[in-house]
Amino acid sequence: MRTKAAKGLEHIAIAVKNLEAAIHTYRDVLGLELAELEEVPEQQVKVAIFGHGLGRVELICPTTSESGVARFLEKRGEGLHHICIEVEDIEATLAELKAQGAPLLDEVPKPGAGGAKVAFIHPKGACGVLVELRQGP
Ligand code: CO
Repeated sequence: MRTKAAKGLEHIAIAVKNLEAAIHTYRDVLGLELAELEEVPEQQVKVAIFGHGLGRVELICPTTSESGVARFLEKRGEGLHHICIEVEDIEATLAELKAQGAPLLDEVPKPGAGGAKVAFIHPKGACGVLVELRQGP
C-alpha cells in the first residue's frame, strides 16, 4: 500500500546552540532570507525559518535543557537534526505508516511551527534520519 501523497521536502532542520550566531551565519554570510522567527513551546524550542514554500531551512534552538533538541546537542553537537516532508493528509499518512509497521514517535499529530500539524518517524525507519511529517494550515 502506498503512503498518501507527499508534496516534497518542506524543510531541513539544523540544531544550533546559539540562535543569534546561527542566524548571522545563514542570513548574513550565506544570504538566505529570514522569513520567520518563532517559539514553539510544545517542543521547547525557538525556530528561525529561512525562505518560503518547499525547501526551506530551519534552525532549531532549545529553550530548556529538557528539550529533545537540548539532548541531541549534548550527544551529537550542532548539525542536521531532521528533514521534513509535507503531506496532503497527516492523519491518513500516519495511519498507513502504522499499518506498515513504521516506528512512529507520534501516532497523533502535534502542533508545530506556523500552525502546522506535525509528527515524527524514528530514524531507524528512515535510513538513519529523523523524519518529520507536516501538514500545513
Ligand atoms: Co521541522
